[in-house]
Amino acid sequence: RGLLESAGMIRSEQVDDSDVIIINTCAVRENAEDKVYGEIGNLKCLKRKNKKLILGICGCMVEQPEILKKVMDTFPEVNLFFGTHEVPQLYDLLYEAITTGERIVSIESKAGEVIEELPACRLNRYKAFVNIIYGCNKFCTYCIVPYTRGKERSRKFDEVIKECKTLVDAGYQEITLLGQNVNAYGKDLDEGHDFADLMEAVAKLGIPRLRFTTSHPWDFSSKMIDVIAKYPNIMKFIHLPVQSGSNEVLRKMGRRYDRERYLNLVKEMREKIPGLSLSTDIIVGFPNESEEEFQDTLSLVDIVKYEAAFTFIYSPRRGTPAAALKDNVDYKEKSKRFQELVKHLEVSISEDAKRYIGGTYKVLVDGISKTDNNMLSGYTETNKLVHFKGDVSLVGKIVKVKILESHTYSMLGELVSE
Ligand code: 5AD
Ligand code: SF4
Repeated sequence: RGLLESAGMIRSEQVDDSDVIIINTCAVRENAEDKVYGEIGNLKCLKRKNKKLILGICGCMVEQPEILKKVMDTFPEVNLFFGTHEVPQLYDLLYEAITTGERIVSIESKAGEVIEELPACRLNRYKAFVNIIYGCNKFCTYCIVPYTRGKERSRKFDEVIKECKTLVDAGYQEITLLGQNVNAYGKDLDEGHDFADLMEAVAKLGIPRLRFTTSHPWDFSSKMIDVIAKYPNIMKFIHLPVQSGSNEVLRKMGRRYDRERYLNLVKEMREKIPGLSLSTDIIVGFPNESEEEFQDTLSLVDIVKYEAAFTFIYSPRRGTPAAALKDNVDYKEKSKRFQELVKHLEVSISEDAKRYIGGTYKVLVDGISKTDNNMLSGYTETNKLVHFKGDVSLVGKIVKVKILESHTYSMLGELVSE
């Protein structure tokens, strides 16, 4: 958005009025890709009405050669293709597509350098995401990310601080530091700063809420835990993907930790950070996962007591080592396990959420509730969605809300006056 605006374009409210449409894509799982085919199918007729329409597709999906070929063959209407590493060249690519009228394909297989200060356009005036590291070197055996996003490249320490300072000065209430694995921040630079240093420096800028995602359990350092514990403005909420509770599956996934090490890390975190809330990612149905191994995941979930979880059925990604494995578990069984895990989590998350009832929590007000026009909604420090009655002037402010009811995915509360 920022790049397009700096190229003089303005956002159209109706997709039918657009001269440029760019679909950004994800390749992590197949169902995300399927949605893109459907979306192109819906949009391609616009090309008949507007011959000059640039219909572009970018992101990880088209970085896979066989998928790129499939989209190019199936949809002659799509006339611009570029990968994640070509985003900084968007202006030139568009210019070329517009002036030549030809189909432009720009996909580098290698990750480029980090380009600082790309124009950004932030829709939210209170919450901002700041990239700190791109790519991933972990090569978990099921994951396409290291192939599409390339090796780990950190942004310069001073550049991140400069961007965060600008956000603080502009009145932002929350910053989330982003990366496939933020813990690896700085390892590829010669600057002598690691992620704990960066987090501390951003916290010291005085942003009211600081978050970060995602952290791989393998390189979550004690130094990071100490920094989180020390600064009240670093939210006591950690997303710590476990993927599986079975040592055998974790080994086959190439996750570099076992169940015991993961649980020890959680223990250290809980000891040092009172009130800590944890969330996770879990994959069900990794090739040849046995019922017993699946049960290990359920038991780990019970031990850790996550407050939120993203759950996925394993999706084979071409070119990854896991996709080459023969699998003796059918999809029906995987789906059954998936449903069981989701139910299991819902019960434990809603049970746990009851402890919020009667308590008063700080909520950053996001806006008018999506489900009820008369209500506002926002998030607690531990990322619980809360609905409550209040004036729209509170949007973007941190207020105190007393929790009256808790449900699986949200809570109901009332404003507490200062
Ligand atoms: N199949 C299913 N889930 C996957 N993830 C990554 N790759 C796959 C895959 N091939 C999940 C992991 C990761 C999250 C972002 O997506 O749980 O943490
Ligand atoms: Fe993929 Fe995350 Fe593993 Fe990197 S650490 S390979 S992004 S699952």
